[in-house]
Amino acid sequence: MAAALQAVRGMNDVLPDEAAVWQRFEDTARNVFERYGYRNLRVPVVEPTPLFVRGIGAHTDVVEHEMYTFEDKLNGESLTLRPEATAGIVRAAIEHHLTYERPQRIWTAGPMFRHERPQKGRYRQFHQLDVEALGFPGPDVDAEQIVMLARLWRALGLDGITLSINSIGDPAERRLHREALIAHFARHADMLDADSQRRLHANPLRILDSKHPPLQDVIAAAPRLVDQLGDASRAHFDALRALLDDAGIAYSVDARLVRGLDYYNRTVFEWVTGALGAQGTVAGGGRYDGLFEELGGKPTPACGFAIGVERMILLLEAQGKARAAAPDAYVVHAGDKAGAVARHVAETLRDHGASVVLHAGGGSFKSQMKKADASGARLAIIVGDDEAAAGTVAIKHLREGGDQVAVPLADVVARFAALNTGKDEYGSL
Ligand code: HAM
Repeated sequence: MAAALQAVRGMNDVLPDEAAVWQRFEDTARNVFERYGYRNLRVPVVEPTPLFVRGIGAHTDVVEHEMYTFEDKLNGESLTLRPEATAGIVRAAIEHHLTYERPQRIWTAGPMFRHERPQKGRYRQFHQLDVEALGFPGPDVDAEQIVMLARLWRALGLDGITLSINSIGDPAERRLHREALIAHFARHADMLDADSQRRLHANPLRILDSKHPPLQDVIAAAPRLVDQLGDASRAHFDALRALLDDAGIAYSVDARLVRGLDYYNRTVFEWVTGALGAQGTVAGGGRYDGLFEELGGKPTPACGFAIGVERMILLLEAQGKARAAAPDAYVVHAGDKAGAVARHVAETLRDHGASVVLHAGGGSFKSQMKKADASGARLAIIVGDDEAAAGTVAIKHLREGGDQVAVPLADVVARFAALNTGKDEYGSL
């Protein structure tokens, strides 16, 4: 026998039982995004490597250590599996002049790739739902995205996801702050670990993220950008806070919140759960007013975020909300005439929007009823030759018990609708 092959480490299959939870989550999210006028855009999974180097920043962890980069041997081009979606969306917006006439609210979904050490909630192929508002100076749209996420958590029935926000200012403010940080950390150079030493001049902001224990006091005493914002950035941040207060959204200002990608300015935010251990950030994003120019486009203010789908599924499971959509009905049938009636009834109900599994493969009524039960369907529709001869079917509610009822074929659609109750929906959007 040939040796069986396995999936690449950190890249997972999503089997049908779990995929049903994914689909339900994605449907709910898509529904929420569309209620706010966000429209779908799809970009390639592979992009030219310089897009990410320029967009995300050469000194970020993602670009330095985590990209799947390879040479296209047919033409020598350096290509990269996308580690995130924002850079590709901005490239597409520039390439197709998307924001030429009006700003755009965009969402996309799909796999991203980062060569990280796999653990619970962290994978090498993972999935994001990504949302971008292109051409909006904010802060109204910054607040809108946060409010939209709060609605999504509500619709999914999730709680305990807390919001941190911060402002990391504009480039000039960041330069000043950067110099202040370098001076501060240089005064404590003997305390810096190797990573932080390397970052001291390249990316001192990232030193604030260091988990190196001896460095924590030095980090705590470092100058805070949020205390040194210029007037425009300060006004932007204050207005964002007022909008969140007005919407009744609870948040904390975390002056240490710096995101791992270089394109951000002003607003940054993260939603975090304590239920998943170390990988508790389920969504993160912020404003990136300079990225269009960085990638060769016209100045275009923008703001966005991404949700980590695997982490959302883990959280839905942890909070008992990982419900999969089940079929409305499972049709069992045995006997020559019964097969034709069963096929007809299944098609008719599908015409009326029901999801109906028609038993295939034969077998006794008893074994078919077991399969009906295991399918999670709410109703079983039972057709034997007796029913077929009488022009009826029997309908039985599999979740709420009770007797089966005989229903004339002409009444099946109406009776089915009346009996198809107890649908296990998420809360209202
Ligand atoms: P990010 O913070 O790098 O931001 O990723 C967003 C989310 O993706 C994280 O909060 C996490 O839930 C999930 N995630 C990231 N890496 C992994 C991984 N290795 N395994 C599983 N989940 C992961 C961005 O990617 C930005 N593009 C978001 C954005 C959009 N900013 C503006 N627009």
